[in-house]
Amino acid sequence: TSTNVALIIGSLRKASINRKFAEFIVSQLPDNVTATEVHIADLPLYNQDYDDQTIDSYDRVRKQIKDADAVLIVTPEHNRTMPAALKNVIDIASRPYKQSVWEGKKVAVVTASPGTYGGRASGLDVRKSMQMLSAQMMIRPEVYLGHATDSLDDEGNVSDRTQKFLQKFVNEFVIFAGNTSA
Ligand code: FNR
Repeated sequence: TSTNVALIIGSLRKASINRKFAEFIVSQLPDNVTATEVHIADLPLYNQDYDDQTIDSYDRVRKQIKDADAVLIVTPEHNRTMPAALKNVIDIASRPYKQSVWEGKKVAVVTASPGTYGGRASGLDVRKSMQMLSAQMMIRPEVYLGHATDSLDDEGNVSDRTQKFLQKFVNEFVIFAGNTSA
Protein backbone atom coordinates (compact mmCIF):
# COMPACT_ATOMS: atom_id res chain seq x y z
CA THR A 1 0.00 0.00 0.00
CA SER A 2 1.20 3.49 -0.72
CA THR A 3 1.12 6.54 1.51
CA ASN A 4 0.26 9.94 0.16
CA VAL A 5 1.81 12.98 1.85
CA ALA A 6 0.72 16.56 1.23
CA LEU A 7 3.67 18.92 1.65
CA ILE A 8 3.13 22.53 2.67
CA ILE A 9 6.09 24.90 2.60
CA GLY A 10 5.46 28.02 4.67
CA SER A 11 7.86 30.21 2.69
CA LEU A 12 6.93 31.70 -0.67
CA ARG A 13 10.40 32.78 -1.73
CA LYS A 14 12.40 30.94 -4.38
CA ALA A 15 15.59 30.59 -2.32
CA SER A 16 13.76 29.36 0.79
CA ILE A 17 15.94 27.37 3.16
CA ASN A 18 12.79 25.62 4.40
CA ARG A 19 12.19 24.40 0.85
CA LYS A 20 15.72 22.94 0.85
CA PHE A 21 15.07 20.99 4.06
CA ALA A 22 11.66 19.90 2.75
CA GLU A 23 13.28 18.64 -0.46
CA PHE A 24 15.82 16.70 1.54
CA ILE A 25 13.11 15.10 3.70
CA VAL A 26 11.09 14.18 0.61
CA SER A 27 14.20 12.68 -1.03
CA GLN A 28 14.56 10.34 1.96
CA LEU A 29 11.01 8.96 1.81
CA PRO A 30 10.72 5.32 0.77
CA ASP A 31 9.26 4.47 -2.67
CA ASN A 32 5.82 3.70 -1.31
CA VAL A 33 5.49 7.19 0.21
CA THR A 34 4.80 9.94 -2.31
CA ALA A 35 4.79 13.63 -1.46
CA THR A 36 2.85 16.24 -3.42
CA GLU A 37 3.22 19.92 -2.71
CA VAL A 38 0.18 21.96 -1.74
CA HIS A 39 0.92 25.29 -3.41
CA ILE A 40 -0.17 28.21 -1.26
CA ALA A 41 1.20 31.31 -3.03
CA ASP A 42 -1.90 31.87 -5.16
CA LEU A 43 -4.51 31.52 -2.43
CA PRO A 44 -6.63 34.63 -1.86
CA LEU A 45 -6.64 35.75 1.76
CA TYR A 46 -9.37 33.77 3.48
CA ASN A 47 -12.69 35.56 3.74
CA GLN A 48 -15.80 33.95 5.20
CA ASP A 49 -17.86 35.53 2.43
CA TYR A 50 -16.22 33.02 0.08
CA ASP A 51 -17.77 30.07 1.95
CA ASP A 52 -20.74 29.99 -0.42
CA GLN A 53 -18.68 30.70 -3.54
CA THR A 54 -16.50 28.43 -5.65
CA ILE A 55 -12.84 29.36 -5.60
CA ASP A 56 -10.78 26.89 -7.59
CA SER A 57 -7.58 27.35 -5.60
CA TYR A 58 -9.51 26.81 -2.33
CA ASP A 59 -11.10 23.63 -3.72
CA ARG A 60 -7.67 22.43 -4.85
CA VAL A 61 -5.96 22.76 -1.46
CA ARG A 62 -8.94 21.44 0.49
CA LYS A 63 -9.02 18.34 -1.72
CA GLN A 64 -5.26 17.82 -1.56
CA ILE A 65 -5.30 17.93 2.24
CA LYS A 66 -8.48 15.84 2.52
CA ASP A 67 -7.04 13.11 0.26
CA ALA A 68 -3.65 12.99 1.98
CA ASP A 69 -2.75 10.28 4.50
CA ALA A 70 -0.58 12.87 6.23
CA VAL A 71 0.42 16.50 5.90
CA LEU A 72 4.01 17.64 6.34
CA ILE A 73 4.50 21.34 7.05
CA VAL A 74 8.00 22.79 6.72
CA THR A 75 8.01 26.44 7.62
CA PRO A 76 9.93 29.48 8.74
CA GLU A 77 8.91 31.75 11.60
CA HIS A 78 7.73 35.28 10.85
CA ASN A 79 7.71 37.66 13.79
CA ARG A 80 7.54 34.84 16.32
CA THR A 81 4.67 33.01 14.73
CA MET A 82 3.84 31.14 11.54
CA PRO A 83 3.93 33.02 8.22
CA ALA A 84 0.63 34.54 7.09
CA ALA A 85 0.59 32.38 3.95
CA LEU A 86 0.69 29.24 6.08
CA LYS A 87 -1.99 30.48 8.45
CA ASN A 88 -4.08 31.29 5.40
CA VAL A 89 -4.08 27.74 4.05
CA ILE A 90 -4.79 26.38 7.54
CA ASP A 91 -7.81 28.70 7.77
CA ILE A 92 -9.03 27.93 4.24
CA ALA A 93 -8.88 24.18 4.88
CA SER A 94 -10.73 24.60 8.20
CA ARG A 95 -13.84 26.07 6.59
CA PRO A 96 -16.76 26.20 5.74
CA TYR A 97 -17.87 25.44 9.29
CA LYS A 98 -18.13 21.70 9.92
CA GLN A 99 -16.38 20.95 6.61
CA SER A 100 -12.85 21.25 7.94
CA VAL A 101 -10.44 18.82 6.32
CA TRP A 102 -8.09 18.96 9.33
CA GLU A 103 -10.17 16.85 11.69
CA GLY A 104 -8.27 13.65 12.49
CA LYS A 105 -5.66 14.54 9.86
CA LYS A 106 -2.12 13.41 10.59
CA VAL A 107 0.13 16.46 10.60
CA ALA A 108 3.84 16.90 11.27
CA VAL A 109 5.73 20.18 11.40
CA VAL A 110 9.40 21.06 10.91
CA THR A 111 10.75 24.58 11.23
CA ALA A 112 14.05 26.13 10.18
CA SER A 113 15.60 29.52 10.77
CA PRO A 114 19.02 31.12 10.48
CA GLY A 115 18.40 32.31 14.04
CA THR A 116 19.14 30.59 17.32
CA TYR A 117 15.62 29.40 18.11
CA GLY A 118 15.05 27.56 14.85
CA GLY A 119 11.56 28.91 14.29
CA ARG A 120 10.32 27.03 17.33
CA ALA A 121 7.57 29.56 18.10
CA SER A 122 6.20 29.04 14.60
CA GLY A 123 6.17 25.26 15.05
CA LEU A 124 4.45 25.55 18.41
CA ASP A 125 1.81 27.85 16.94
CA VAL A 126 1.13 25.34 14.15
CA ARG A 127 0.65 22.73 16.88
CA LYS A 128 -1.71 25.07 18.72
CA SER A 129 -3.92 25.58 15.66
CA MET A 130 -3.87 21.85 14.88
CA GLN A 131 -4.97 21.03 18.42
CA MET A 132 -7.93 23.37 18.04
CA LEU A 133 -8.77 21.70 14.72
CA SER A 134 -8.58 18.18 16.21
CA ALA A 135 -5.82 17.16 13.85
CA GLN A 136 -3.58 14.30 14.90
CA MET A 137 -0.21 15.96 15.45
CA MET A 138 2.99 13.98 15.36
CA ILE A 139 4.32 14.72 18.84
CA ARG A 140 7.97 13.81 18.45
CA PRO A 141 10.69 14.18 17.48
CA GLU A 142 10.27 17.93 17.53
CA VAL A 143 12.40 19.51 14.81
CA TYR A 144 13.23 23.21 14.97
CA LEU A 145 16.44 23.73 12.99
CA GLY A 146 18.42 26.62 14.41
CA HIS A 147 21.39 28.30 12.68
CA ALA A 148 19.95 26.51 9.69
CA THR A 149 21.96 28.35 7.04
CA ASP A 150 25.06 26.70 8.56
CA SER A 151 23.52 23.32 7.69
CA LEU A 152 23.36 24.12 3.95
CA ASP A 153 26.19 24.52 1.48
CA ASP A 154 26.09 26.86 -1.54
CA GLU A 155 24.22 24.26 -3.62
CA GLY A 156 21.64 23.89 -0.86
CA ASN A 157 22.88 20.47 0.19
CA VAL A 158 22.13 19.54 3.77
CA SER A 159 25.21 18.89 5.90
CA ASP A 160 25.96 15.32 7.00
CA ARG A 161 25.26 16.15 10.63
CA THR A 162 21.83 17.61 9.86
CA GLN A 163 21.07 14.76 7.45
CA LYS A 164 21.60 12.30 10.32
CA PHE A 165 19.36 14.37 12.57
CA LEU A 166 16.63 14.69 9.96
CA GLN A 167 16.80 10.97 9.18
CA LYS A 168 15.42 10.23 12.65
CA PHE A 169 12.51 12.52 11.92
CA VAL A 170 11.95 10.88 8.51
CA ASN A 171 11.90 7.39 10.04
CA GLU A 172 9.31 8.37 12.62
CA PHE A 173 7.27 10.34 10.11
CA VAL A 174 7.03 7.38 7.71
CA ILE A 175 5.69 5.19 10.53
CA PHE A 176 3.30 7.92 11.64
CA ALA A 177 2.01 8.65 8.13
CA GLY A 178 1.55 5.01 7.15
CA ASN A 179 0.09 3.72 10.39
CA THR A 180 -3.63 3.43 9.68
CA SER A 181 -4.41 1.98 13.09
CA ALA A 182 -3.02 4.98 14.98
C1 FNR B 1 11.82 36.67 9.59
N1 FNR B 1 12.79 35.86 10.16
C2 FNR B 1 12.60 35.39 11.46
N2 FNR B 1 13.39 34.39 11.97
C3 FNR B 1 13.14 33.89 13.20
O1 FNR B 1 13.81 32.99 13.63
N3 FNR B 1 12.13 34.41 13.97
C4 FNR B 1 11.32 35.40 13.55
O2 FNR B 1 10.42 35.80 14.26
C5 FNR B 1 11.55 35.93 12.24
N4 FNR B 1 10.76 36.91 11.75
C6 FNR B 1 10.79 37.21 10.41
C7 FNR B 1 9.80 38.00 9.84
C8 FNR B 1 9.77 38.22 8.48
C9 FNR B 1 8.64 39.03 7.89
C10 FNR B 1 10.78 37.65 7.66
C11 FNR B 1 10.74 37.86 6.16
C12 FNR B 1 11.78 36.92 8.21
C13 FNR B 1 13.95 35.42 9.39
C14 FNR B 1 13.68 34.10 8.71
O3 FNR B 1 13.92 33.04 9.61
C15 FNR B 1 14.60 33.98 7.49
O4 FNR B 1 14.31 34.99 6.56
C16 FNR B 1 14.45 32.60 6.86
O5 FNR B 1 15.43 32.43 5.85
C17 FNR B 1 13.06 32.45 6.25
O6 FNR B 1 12.87 31.15 5.80
P1 FNR B 1 12.98 30.78 4.24
O7 FNR B 1 12.16 31.77 3.48
O8 FNR B 1 14.43 30.87 3.89
O9 FNR B 1 12.46 29.39 4.17
